[in-house]
Amino acid sequence: MRPLVLGIETSCDETGVGIVRGDELLANVVASSMDLHARFGGVVPEIAARAHLEAMEPTIERALAEAGVTLDELDAIAVTAGPGLAGALMVGVGAAKALGIAAGKPVHGVNHLVGHVAADALAGGPIEQETIALLVSGGHTSLLHVRDIDADVVTLGETIDDAAGEAFDKVARLLGLVYPGGPSIDAAAAEGDPTAIRFPRGLTAPKDRERHRFDFSFSGLKTAVARHVERSADAGELSVPDVAASFREAVVDVLVTKAIDACAHTGVPRLLLGGGVVANRRLRELAAERCEAAGVALRVPPLSLCTDNGAMIAGLGARLVARGIAPSAPGFGVESTLD
Ligand code: KG4
Ligand code: ZN
Repeated sequence: MRPLVLGIETSCDETGVGIVRGDELLANVVASSMDLHARFGGVVPEIAARAHLEAMEPTIERALAEAGVTLDELDAIAVTAGPGLAGALMVGVGAAKALGIAAGKPVHGVNHLVGHVAADALAGGPIEQETIALLVSGGHTSLLHVRDIDADVVTLGETIDDAAGEAFDKVARLLGLVYPGGPSIDAAAAEGDPTAIRFPRGLTAPKDRERHRFDFSFSGLKTAVARHVERSADAGELSVPDVAASFREAVVDVLVTKAIDACAHTGVPRLLLGGGVVANRRLRELAAERCEAAGVALRVPPLSLCTDNGAMIAGLGARLVARGIAPSAPGFGVESTLD
């Protein structure tokens, strides 16, 4: 069975609507409110929610047109129910429920992080196999053990403070680089020396191994960068490229080290990357290098499926429909990251 499913994603600043038939991607339309957040240096929840409200119908219409299908033909609607920004999620869930009632279709509220994993199937990935997934974006940083994508996903660890992308955004601001910080830091780092400054690697000390082996922390790193910038600017010797390269190396080193450790710990020799930070050149490079050395198969879906999008949510919904899993109960709510 290859169900025709429309997926809606509004957990952060991307209004995404995707349509799939089973594992076949028919449409993936994304409207981003990123530009509206630029002057604040990060996503402003209320601005994101308002932008979703305005973008929702045009994005649904574009996706239907792109896929060449009508609402009537759908087997189901899937929507991100969390985790994410509460107000932003509510716009998507409200739209999905309204569509469900209007078109007489079942609605599945799904988990955003598992959606990132489902994206791999749309890129032709071996999704039936167990995998470790490292999901890194502006809103989340999680290491998952995916035993069965539809039924058994274990969170091995997550960030205890900032998300990795958020750390890039905050450090870019400290360095006077434009938002979003990830691409700016990537560009600046190309001219810098990653060994110039030894920045801290959060939660990698022996004492952290017991409780936080697979967790992440980037706030200490951000503070260390702030101190370094202050000191070296006063002395008139601040090198933005060196700070960018050294900071990027610290983040990427921790992400890849913990992901490979998770593969070793679980005995699963497969690693899947997802989230907007996957655009980082050094992350891709170091993950490829270390995975090869460790005998771990690395999967990186195309970037359009790594950043937040509706197709991954539709893909996950199609799997649930195919398995005969019941839709969400009427009145289902959202799971905020702020709860
Ligand atoms: O998944 P995504 O598009 O959306 C949300 O988080 O909602 O991820 C965006 C995040 C931002 O924090 C951005 O700075 C980061 O991904 N990012 C990067 C790069 N490109 C985007 N981080 C590091 N290096 C990059 N090249
Ligand atoms: Zn995401």
